[in-house]
Amino acid sequence: MNKFIAPSLLAADFGNLQRDIEMINKSDADWFHIDVMDGVFVPNISFGMPVIKAIKKHAKKTMDVHLMIVDPDRFIGDFKNVGADILTVHYEACPHLHRTVQAIKAQGMKAGVSLNPHTPIAVLEDIIADLDLVLIMSVNPGFGGQSFIENTYKKVAQLKSLIEFSGSNALIEVDGGVTDENIEELSNAGVDAFVAGNFVFKSKNPLKTISELKKLATG
Ligand code: DX5
Ligand code: ZN
Repeated sequence: MNKFIAPSLLAADFGNLQRDIEMINKSDADWFHIDVMDGVFVPNISFGMPVIKAIKKHAKKTMDVHLMIVDPDRFIGDFKNVGADILTVHYEACPHLHRTVQAIKAQGMKAGVSLNPHTPIAVLEDIIADLDLVLIMSVNPGFGGQSFIENTYKKVAQLKSLIEFSGSNALIEVDGGVTDENIEELSNAGVDAFVAGNFVFKSKNPLKTISELKKLATG
């Protein structure tokens, strides 16, 4: 089974963004995780299209875009245009989730759905077959550097059985507070993709940290 490491650029040095992107290009990381926050769905604002476009100019790996915004349907075409490969929306922000997921796929992107820590896996029962990825938030979205919520393990196990039961091909991604202390257990529980922000970018040697995470995840 492939395991994907997705460093979150939210924790990068925005004054040296190209340097940090090149570091990820040459690292063992698999994806660029890009957090878009609107100050409405979450109590923080990150960055928008011009910055993503600039990232895409240098990034040589999959662009995994995580939308923490209300009414994401308005921008699906724009995110395609600035280079998103995977586009993940929040279940809590989409009253017509089926339509949103189809619209993402119609643009040729992989479609992901994210769940906040309090949202049960069971809400995905009737959409799981259509999804390419489910992103389980292991912190409350809005900020990097928070502590991992332990209840995530239970949700990963529940999601794994839902995926197996439904025959879905969805990947399981976990986002928030991922470190060398929990990545192995998450991987064993069935997580495919691991977002890591602060643990990578605030470490002394991000290249080495990424390699270590990849090794721990791969087993
Ligand atoms: C939180 C974001 C995360 C965040 C993770 O709202 O979705 O992607 O950057 O950061 P760490 O790994 O520092 O918890
Ligand atoms: Zn994220």
